[in-house]
Amino acid sequence: MDKSKSKNTSANSKAAKYIRLEKTNTEALRGGGANRIEAQHKKGKLTARERLDLLLDRGSFNEIGKFVTHRSSDFGLDKERYLGDGVVTGYGTVNGRLTYVFSQDFTVFGGSLSEAHAAKIVKIMDLALKNGAPVVGINDSGGARIQEGVESLGGYADIFYKNTLASGVVPQISVVMGPCAGGAVYSPAITDFIFMVEHTSYMFVTGPKVVKTVTHEEISAEELGGAEAHAIKSGVTHFAESNEVECIEKVKLLLSYLPQNCEDLVPQNEDPGSAGKIEFLDEIIPDNPEEAYDVREVIKHVADDQSFLEVHAAFAQNIVVGFARLGGRSIGIIANQPAVLAGVLDIHASRKGARFVRFCDCFNIPLLVFEDVPGFLPGTNQEWNGIISNGAKLLYSFCEATVPRVTVITRKAYGGAYDVMNSKHIGADMNFAWPMAEIAVMGAKGAAEIIFKKEIARAEDREKELAIREKAYNEKFANPYVAASRGFIDEVIMPHQTREKLIVAYEMLENKVDDLPKKKHGNIPL
Ligand code: HXC
Repeated sequence: MDKSKSKNTSANSKAAKYIRLEKTNTEALRGGGANRIEAQHKKGKLTARERLDLLLDRGSFNEIGKFVTHRSSDFGLDKERYLGDGVVTGYGTVNGRLTYVFSQDFTVFGGSLSEAHAAKIVKIMDLALKNGAPVVGINDSGGARIQEGVESLGGYADIFYKNTLASGVVPQISVVMGPCAGGAVYSPAITDFIFMVEHTSYMFVTGPKVVKTVTHEEISAEELGGAEAHAIKSGVTHFAESNEVECIEKVKLLLSYLPQNCEDLVPQNEDPGSAGKIEFLDEIIPDNPEEAYDVREVIKHVADDQSFLEVHAAFAQNIVVGFARLGGRSIGIIANQPAVLAGVLDIHASRKGARFVRFCDCFNIPLLVFEDVPGFLPGTNQEWNGIISNGAKLLYSFCEATVPRVTVITRKAYGGAYDVMNSKHIGADMNFAWPMAEIAVMGAKGAAEIIFKKEIARAEDREKELAIREKAYNEKFANPYVAASRGFIDEVIMPHQTREKLIVAYEMLENKVDDLPKKKHGNIPL
């Protein structure tokens, strides 16, 4: 036998095998076909793979489960099988750090979730849990694969269960870039952060048709569950971006603040210094205590330059939350916003703050509070909708947090809100106050009207008497020194010293160990 001939035949058959493999890979890459990809682009949407290309570092993606297909043969499914079954899964790096990903492919059965599709997602989550790295899930799906029935419903439940087990272990980010309806919304809802894109993504438990049948309301999908609705009204989404490219950039930015898992430390970056002149802070508080200022200016001047990433920016704007860096290290900021509703705490603000505090505490991100709060918002709307239990969420979250916790009282710290906003009494490590801080049960006018009611009633000139009593109350309490004399404030500092004091304080708290009493889990007033 001609040995060289036999060698050639074997090489040819190997080549043929590789060509076949390459062809299958390309088919897998094509998803549901060129027309469907074009249709996706026409809607202003990218494909599942294009989204991953933008998210992951170039060349870092490793796909898992490319050859998986569904196992159903009902309703003609036996004639339609696509490699990957409508979801691209795997791992890669984002800014050089390991990240697990799944990206639903709307071009295959509308991205609907089959048993096999769900199993691919669960596999990724299992790997993320075992290896301690974040999961980014890109959702673009018509929901449960209708032809599969209960198997697809079971697939969703498997994902919800895994989302819950992974909660607090690794960061989970949901990016909604198309439909996400029915029970499917509950996976993103359990995860830590939701991103949506204006005009191309929507989330609702029941869509416009059902809404019309049940409540007779006529509403579009966008109005009911678009990015704007969830960014402003419901607070379901943390970020609403104007297009998919910007959305993915934001996801990458968010990841840059987060540790990889609950045992990891926050990333350490270069310290670029603060923005502009720090002395600006000495002038920021208006002379008139009723006058507003924008707390984001305070954050901007205290945190590292350009480092503030606001979360939930359009929802409950009377409280500002977000990530920043201080001396190069991530911190989580919760700040009352005097520029909106005088910074009062209401139901939405309490929920927003509580969720953020708990996220930071899960992932070892130190907390910083800027406090300027006149109290809780009064009224039947608030009381009947549960300001008591919702306000308690924020209180409970701070009480339970064991990460380094620092508060800066910039102006008002009134009433119960003084206790709630990370006071020393509920476990804050360091509390600073600016010299103009007012720490009291309530504002001077309200206080004088109550405690000097008789004196004011008896006075010939009631207004003058009220003004005198108000002044006396102010002199006693409209300062930080009574609280400082009790040790409830550690130091009264000039605003321009804030950045430097905070950097040193967090360095001092770097090795903080604080264990909660042994328990199964607490019972936060949900
Ligand atoms: C199977 C589906 C599907 C689904 C869409 N497709 N959703 N296939 N199961 N759930 C298919 C369509 O048949 C179509 O296939 C292709 O995907 C694209 O869908 P279109 O309708 O042409 O696209 P569009 O007009 O953009 O509308 C998208 C849509 C719509 C709004 C998502 O498809 C839709 O309403 N789908 C059903 C949504 C739904 O009721 N899902 C179940 C929810 S309950 P062809 O081959 O014709 O192109 C649920 C329970 C979860 O999810 C349980 C958790 C607790």
